[in-house]
Amino acid sequence: MIELTGLTKRYGSRTVVDRVSGTIEAGGIISIIGANGAGKSTLLSMAARLLPMDEGTVFVDELDVLSTPSDQLARKLSILRQENTLSVRLSVRDLVAFGRHPHNRGRHTAEDREHVDRALRYLQLDELADRYVDELSGGQRQRAFIAMVIAQDTDYVLLDEPLNNLDMKHAVEMMQLLRRMAHDFGKTVVLVIHDINFASCYSDRIMAMKDGALVHHGTPEQIMRPEVLRDVYGIDIRVEQIDGHRIGIYFA
Ligand SMILES: Nc1ncnc2c1ncn2[C@@H]1O[C@H](COP(=O)(O)OP(=O)(O)OP(=O)(O)O)[C@@H](O)[C@H]1O
Ligand SMILES: [Mg+2]
Repeated sequence: MIELTGLTKRYGSRTVVDRVSGTIEAGGIISIIGANGAGKSTLLSMAARLLPMDEGTVFVDELDVLSTPSDQLARKLSILRQENTLSVRLSVRDLVAFGRHPHNRGRHTAEDREHVDRALRYLQLDELADRYVDELSGGQRQRAFIAMVIAQDTDYVLLDEPLNNLDMKHAVEMMQLLRRMAHDFGKTVVLVIHDINFASCYSDRIMAMKDGALVHHGTPEQIMRPEVLRDVYGIDIRVEQIDGHRIGIYFA
């Protein structure tokens, strides 16, 4: 369980995350939706201690994110940032192996290699494993960074826009993989996502942010409603039931 209490971030006089409280139960896929600038990345970054909060607390199970030693936290929770850059030249395999660092501090065991191989396989990167990350396409690079997070093998996985740069096939495969991780392996996957229909079809719960606040939190059935989506995005979105899923239609 991730427990957010009064989580707040300010830049100067602007409050960009405003006293957000909420509980994310363990197990399942939780999508965070909301307009650009709503505070999604800031919230996720504070939850993973990439960014200090001004007020509030985050607990991941019994661990207070603020006071837990880095290695211990990194064995519990992993995060993919919205933007990923590397300052050194690394092969895909070496990047993915970095995900094992909290477990082995650089001394790789056979078990670590298994995790790396499995993550490469899950993300269909076997053939790219020896290529340099800076020689990949945008979508291939995105998958390499996600493989690193998966190799970290934590109970809680936070992903900021994991579908960035992915084509339709890879986006669907990514969501299926996340669903398998959540439902077959008991992971808790929290992702920021702009495609409300992917959120609707694959999430157990959806959290919606607006102007730094958590404004709605519920099942896809509860969130995928024209009045809720209008509140979140400020546009009219028609919602149709297709193959048992609520699908938003937002082009006119
Ligand atoms: N370092 C910073 N200094 C000042 N303001 C910032 C900083 N980082 C973010 N902000 C502001 O905080 C607000 C929330 O930003 P955040 O990146 O969390 O939005 P987001 O919901 O992730 O948006 P997007 O969908 O565009 O990724 C925005 O108004 C942004 O301009
Ligand atoms: Mg963001």
